[in-house]
Amino acid sequence: MTEFTDPTTAEPAELAELAWGSHYAVVEPTHFRIDYAINPFMDPDVQPDPARASDQWAALVGTLRGLGARIDVLPQREDAPDMVYAMNLGLALLRTAGDPHVVMSHMRYPQRRMETGSAQQWFAGRGWTTSYVGREGVGAHLEAGDAFAFGDALVVGFGPRTEELALKHLALELGVRVRGLRLTHPGMYHLDLAFCPLDSRRALVCPAALDAPSARALMELVPEPLVLTEQEALTTFAANSVVVGRTVVMPACPARVRAQLESWGFEVVVVEVSEFHKGGGSIRCLTNPLDVTLGRDLPVLARGEVITPPPA
Ligand code: ARG
Repeated sequence: MTEFTDPTTAEPAELAELAWGSHYAVVEPTHFRIDYAINPFMDPDVQPDPARASDQWAALVGTLRGLGARIDVLPQREDAPDMVYAMNLGLALLRTAGDPHVVMSHMRYPQRRMETGSAQQWFAGRGWTTSYVGREGVGAHLEAGDAFAFGDALVVGFGPRTEELALKHLALELGVRVRGLRLTHPGMYHLDLAFCPLDSRRALVCPAALDAPSARALMELVPEPLVLTEQEALTTFAANSVVVGRTVVMPACPARVRAQLESWGFEVVVVEVSEFHKGGGSIRCLTNPLDVTLGRDLPVLARGEVITPPPA
C-alpha cells in the first residue's frame, strides 16, 4: 500500500448518471427517540412526534419507490433509537464477481454500537458477506455515512466519527483508492452532511465542513461542484440528499441550488423529514445504498492506497 500526502487531481470524468442509487436499505422508525446527545442537533428535551415521524418516513419511502428504487426495510431495535439512520449501519458494496459484501460500521459512540450486530445478521441472512475494519467491532471507528464512491476513489470523511486509521483498512481490504477528507465542523460530523455525489462530474459540496487543505482537495475532486454555504448545509440539510437517476430527493432546496440543479437537467423532489432533523440526520442518513458496485462505481486497484491532504 502506498500513501501520499499531496492531493492529486483525478482525471476529468465523462458526464454520466450515477449507476448506483436505485436500491436502499432503510429502518422503520418504530422506536425513534432522542435519548442522548451525540451531535449538536440532539436535545433529549426536544422529542420527535412519533406519528409525524412515521408519516414523513413513509412519504420518503413512497417517493423513492415511486422513482423506481427498490427499498428493503429492516426492523428497528427497541434499544437503538438512532438506528433509523440506516446509512450508518455499514458500507455495502457489490463485488465484480457478483457477491454482495458489507463492511459493518464500528460506531464511535457506545450508544449506537448494538445497531450493527442486528444489521450484520440482517445482511448475512440475505446472502451478504460481512466484515469489520480491523478486528470485529473493536478496530478503528468507521461510520458509513462518511464514505462515498466518487470519481476514482472511495471518498472518506474522518475526524468526528470515522478514525483516520480506518481509511488504511478500507483501502487494503477493498483494494481501492481512498481519498481522505478531514472533517472539522462540529455540525457536519459525517461527510454525508457536506457531500452528495450527483453524477460522474457533479456533487453538492460544503467545503466549510473541512479544514483548508481538505476543502481544497474536495474542490479538486469534483469537476463541477455545487457549493453550499455553511448556513445552507446546516439549516436545510440540503447535502443530505439522495439521487435516483436524474432526480434529487432533498429535505429542502434553496432557490439558488434548485436553479443550478435544474439547469443541469436534474429534477428536484422535496420530502420533509423535519422530525429526523431532531436527531441530526436527514434523507441520506435514513437510507443506505445497496447497489454501489466495485469495478463499476469504484475502480479496483492492484494495491489499495490512501491519499489524504496534510492537516491545516
Ligand atoms: N443521531 C445520529 C448520530 O449522531 C444521526 C446520524 C446521522 N447520520 C448520517 N449519516 N449523517 O449518529
